[in-house]
Amino acid sequence: MIYTVTLNPAVDYFVTLDSLHFGEVNRAKKEHKAPGGKGINVSRVLKRLGHESEAVGFIGGFTGGYIKDAVEAESIRTHFVTVDGDTRINVKMKAESETELNGTSPVITADNVRDLEAFLQRLGKGDAVVLAGSLPPSLDKTIYTRWTKRLREQGVAVYVDTSGVPLKDVLSAKPSFIKPNHRELAELVGADIHTPAEAVPYAKELLETGIENVLVSFAGGGALLSTRERTMVANTPKGVVKNSVGAGDSVVAGFVCANAEGMDLPEAFRFAVASGSATAFSTGFADRERVEELKQQVSVTYID
Ligand SMILES: Nc1ncnc2c1ncn2[C@@H]1O[C@H](COP(=O)(O)OP(=O)(O)OP(=O)(O)O)[C@@H](O)[C@H]1O
Ligand SMILES: [Mg+2]
Repeated sequence: MIYTVTLNPAVDYFVTLDSLHFGEVNRAKKEHKAPGGKGINVSRVLKRLGHESEAVGFIGGFTGGYIKDAVEAESIRTHFVTVDGDTRINVKMKAESETELNGTSPVITADNVRDLEAFLQRLGKGDAVVLAGSLPPSLDKTIYTRWTKRLREQGVAVYVDTSGVPLKDVLSAKPSFIKPNHRELAELVGADIHTPAEAVPYAKELLETGIENVLVSFAGGGALLSTRERTMVANTPKGVVKNSVGAGDSVVAGFVCANAEGMDLPEAFRFAVASGSATAFSTGFADRERVEELKQQVSVTYID
């Protein structure tokens, strides 16, 4: 079974206004709400690609209830640990420019963490876990590292998509897969990286730490996949970008889906990149038909 973990979910509240005036009453022209969080996005895309997964994490209060209901309404199973306090609300305003206001996360207690750990302890060989997104401030930045280490010992495949300190720290636990975008990789290794070719030596350095697959995404500028056996680059399909939410998460979902279906590495890479672009080119998330169609535009070249 595939499990996605979202430790810091949010209710995303999208508002469109003609213009935004500070210090005044503003009226929304259009609005919608969605369950937010990178693990949750991976589960939602997996569903559209034809795979069951279980969304796991921490939720609280009426906002947490909304997230659980919205995810389950898409026929995705959940195992959320309930915490005191409300899951945060992130406001995304679109006027002349885009403004975001992220709410504060509820406090996660040691007991809450133990409850989730008890659940993860039951997983084993054949299972896959996706650890995705930021951490709430009350959790220590090594939590992904501890969990990855344990899960790997249990024989579970672990896909990690995060940034900053949690990403740097998790490397020592040898995740099966990481997917930094080029900015996250640049921050991680302390270098300027603008193209897949420039990322090659750094991706290889990461493999030496014991990670199996390093996929670096460059938005519309192609992608790099480095494994112990081969390193390859892919182009990204051409199209009109309609959505900036969840493209990276869709790459992760695409790669997890490809592995579950036993695709070989270049095919999995093509499928993952096409999944990212299918979301970028949609108003919502990728669907399987669009992914298969866009995959035809993606070619993979070995560079090592
Ligand atoms: N302009 C674009 N044209 C084609 N594909 C795109 C474009 N922008 C994004 N994508 C697709 O989305 C994937 C992920 O994009 P990006 O590198 O921006 O990830 P990210 O920064 O991790 O995204 P996220 O904000 O979801 O975490 C790319 O590999 C590509 O498949
Ligand atoms: Mg990302």
